[in-house]
Amino acid sequence: MADPAASAQRRLSLHGQWSSRLAFVLAVSGSAVGLGNIWKFPYVAGQNGGGAFVLVYLLCVFAIGLPIMMAEILLGRRGRRNPVTTMGLLGREEGGSRQWRLVGLMGMLCGFLILSFYSVIAGWTLHYTVLAASDSFAGLAADGLGELFSGLVSNPVTLILWHTVFLIITTVVVARGVEEGLERAVRVMVPALILIMLALLAYSISFGGFQAGLEFLFRPDFSALTGAGVLAAMGQAFFSLSVGMGAVMAYGAYLPQEESIIKTSVAVVSADTAIALLAGMVIFPIVFANGLDPAEGPGLVFQTLPLALAKMPAGILVGTAFFILLAFAGLTSAISLMEPVVAWLVEAFSMRRSVAAMLAGGVTWALGLMTVFSFNLLADWQFLRGTLFDNIDYLTSNILLPAGGFLITIFAGWIMCANSSADELDATVGPAYRLWRFLARYVAPVAVLLVFLNAVGALG
Ligand code: PFF
Repeated sequence: MADPAASAQRRLSLHGQWSSRLAFVLAVSGSAVGLGNIWKFPYVAGQNGGGAFVLVYLLCVFAIGLPIMMAEILLGRRGRRNPVTTMGLLGREEGGSRQWRLVGLMGMLCGFLILSFYSVIAGWTLHYTVLAASDSFAGLAADGLGELFSGLVSNPVTLILWHTVFLIITTVVVARGVEEGLERAVRVMVPALILIMLALLAYSISFGGFQAGLEFLFRPDFSALTGAGVLAAMGQAFFSLSVGMGAVMAYGAYLPQEESIIKTSVAVVSADTAIALLAGMVIFPIVFANGLDPAEGPGLVFQTLPLALAKMPAGILVGTAFFILLAFAGLTSAISLMEPVVAWLVEAFSMRRSVAAMLAGGVTWALGLMTVFSFNLLADWQFLRGTLFDNIDYLTSNILLPAGGFLITIFAGWIMCANSSADELDATVGPAYRLWRFLARYVAPVAVLLVFLNAVGALG
């Protein structure tokens, strides 16, 4: 058998490399930071009672999400192929089985499903960009904004229109490839988004509900947390960090050999978490200052932020900039959802990159109709977790991503030989490597299993 270290050394990606460590950090941050932080985190935290959920979320991010992110990057860089091929290749090379490629395939399926609803929600932010720019929030109180939002989601034609626009943009960027498309798209977004959130935070502080908002977010009330809530917190950690489906693995394939995976992951995870908390700190004060319901659901950010925007100086400008940046943050995440499948089609079926991107875009578009109709024509069709959208969301965030992450961390921690992982993770950082290996072998897999068992009621 070939020496795993030697054969990994020779491999190069077919799609080029990131031009620098910063470009990679930006790309992975671009994937992680998105609608998950600003749209999803606040509403899921709101539905699950706040503080205790947030605490569990933070634990999941650092004890499960961070080691799995490192595992994904290291596998990606070692394989230097799309996630399916990489898992198959490393499976064989490390003395396991080629069938590890099934983990990659499951990730592809999960990516399609996530992108299908992600694009619809990103469409909402495009619509809200237009609303903000045309000063449509002026003079509206909470109920008026509620009507504005339900007016949007009850109209399938508008939703399909924006869903289509967003997917076309995503497809075009992915079709253009790593260097030109992905890198350029992520350079300014994260810093700009943080700046504007800070401006909104300053406004939230002066708004009246800041104390109540902070208490809701940071004072744990464990009686409000159920087994399902713990699972939702873990699912949100996977979703927000983009781990468990191969997105980060696909990006890892383009990471130059000399860059530190540990430093990169810590930076990305910290930034992602800070932005989610920041979003919560902006949104919940508005919720409480206006007597709104924190458990409002997917419309929460769209029904709260405009209240602040309507009252603040230069609200039109800030609001327009905010929704553009949010759509842009969504775009850089959507790109990373499409990249694994496109890389796979190109490498495994010799498809042209542009054709592969169009194929992926077309399939995603069709799947997205399920989400579109969940908010109008099929809104009454409820089963298992709720609407079709609720079920797709639950299946991907709470089941497929954690299951994928579990298998990835088992592979990196148990199947892969320690020499290979130490080699990728830069063995000069001894204690950090040992900590990673401990988290990846024991903490992360056991925690995922316990959360699953707890959610199905098996732990009593
Ligand atoms: N992390 C992204 C967000 O928080 O919006 C969503 C996402 C991107 C999830 C890529 C999964 C993924 F593979």
